[in-house]
Amino acid sequence: MKIAIIGQGYVGLALAKAAVNSGHNVIGFDTNTQVINAIKSQMTSGNFVNTSNYLPTDKKAEVKDQEIYIIAVPTPLDKNNLPDISYLNKASELIAASASKGALVINESTSYPGTLREVVITQISRLNEAKFLYAAAPERIDPANTAWGIKNTPRVIAGIDETSTKAAFEFYKSICDQVIVVSSPEVAEAAKLFENTFRQVNIALVNELAQISEKLNISANEVIAAATTKPFGFMPFSPGLGVGGHCIPIDPIYLAQKARSVGATAAFIDQASKVNQQMPLYILGRVKSLLNNELGGKKVCITGLSYKADVSDLRESPSLVLWKELEKQGAKVSFHDEIVKVYEGVESSSLSANAYDLSVVAIRHTNLDIDGLKKSAPIIFDCTGSIEGCHRL
Ligand SMILES: NC(=O)c1ccc[n+]([C@@H]2O[C@H](COP(=O)([O-])OP(=O)(O)OC[C@H]3O[C@@H](n4cnc5c(N)ncnc54)[C@H](O)[C@@H]3O)[C@@H](O)[C@H]2O)c1
Repeated sequence: MKIAIIGQGYVGLALAKAAVNSGHNVIGFDTNTQVINAIKSQMTSGNFVNTSNYLPTDKKAEVKDQEIYIIAVPTPLDKNNLPDISYLNKASELIAASASKGALVINESTSYPGTLREVVITQISRLNEAKFLYAAAPERIDPANTAWGIKNTPRVIAGIDETSTKAAFEFYKSICDQVIVVSSPEVAEAAKLFENTFRQVNIALVNELAQISEKLNISANEVIAAATTKPFGFMPFSPGLGVGGHCIPIDPIYLAQKARSVGATAAFIDQASKVNQQMPLYILGRVKSLLNNELGGKKVCITGLSYKADVSDLRESPSLVLWKELEKQGAKVSFHDEIVKVYEGVESSSLSANAYDLSVVAIRHTNLDIDGLKKSAPIIFDCTGSIEGCHRL
């Protein structure tokens, strides 16, 4: 099939690779020329499989008359902390200007239930009178997860009518092992948000447990390990510095906002956001008390700057909040992250012996030098709860 993917970031590029490898002809469109140039250089260095039926481009004219258009653009929050659907609107405008009657338009970007109809279809229909097929197929990709990828993660889809659903099913069957059809795009959109909200709420709950456990003078990690021995009705989550990335801190706000717009409440979601957002401040307090309640002039290293292990993504990373708060109180902050390497002109520091007064392990990348870490400071506070012999949550 002839496919245009709108947005060649993390999701769009992974999808392009999957579709190309399944034999489709893919045009990967992105408004950011740097993104397109980076993909082109990856292709020439041989990192991209099967390049002959893939065309990365920043030229709108190239996406004309495709059989399928798939939207994979950002869905962030705006400055008022509300869903920012401007990227979806722009992508829809491009599709309206490029597609011919009968094309299938799919939205993979994460957004609130109703987005396909209220945003994508409304925008396209306003600009182009032709009849198109439409489906929602929210992406479930998990960066750095080597066990679950596009192929073996079941995909939930729904079209606006039978023909749309059938066409979307056929495409996803060509790249995924299992495709689950639900009754409406709104169900598919809500399921995606609920999956990430489930994580957000459970992470908040376990972060609250960490704070309760400190007061009780017991280990939260030991409590969780003990509870995990129950063979039914329990699922472990780990406390940490907070939540980051494009999904867990943001998607629940999309659901809560939509809930409010239809007169429902989202008290759990709101409370979970608050607990998770406050975690870096709680960790700041723990770090401060380990340094005799004085941070002024203290050398503190944050180990792991990205929002999760083994990725370089800094979006919404709670480590950056901790950094800012430590600096506000006069600490001299460095970071050690061999994947991020440089942040705003500051280079990752080495873990040389006694370089710091305290090291906070925010994220543990697989290749973290544990011996070096332990020698780098007399006090190590491990937010990941995975390193023996450290202060922990
Ligand atoms: N990254 C993840 O782990 C993940 C997982 C599941 C779902 N999602 C969702 O997928 C969507 C995309 O996320 P991502 O991580 O790939 O974002 P990203 O920022 O990595 O990539 C988005 C790309 O879209 C491009 N873009 C913006 N506006 C455009 C437009 N009008 N036309 C063409 N290109 C445009 C940007 O330049 C960028 O390269 C979001 O809704 C996100 O919530 C992400």
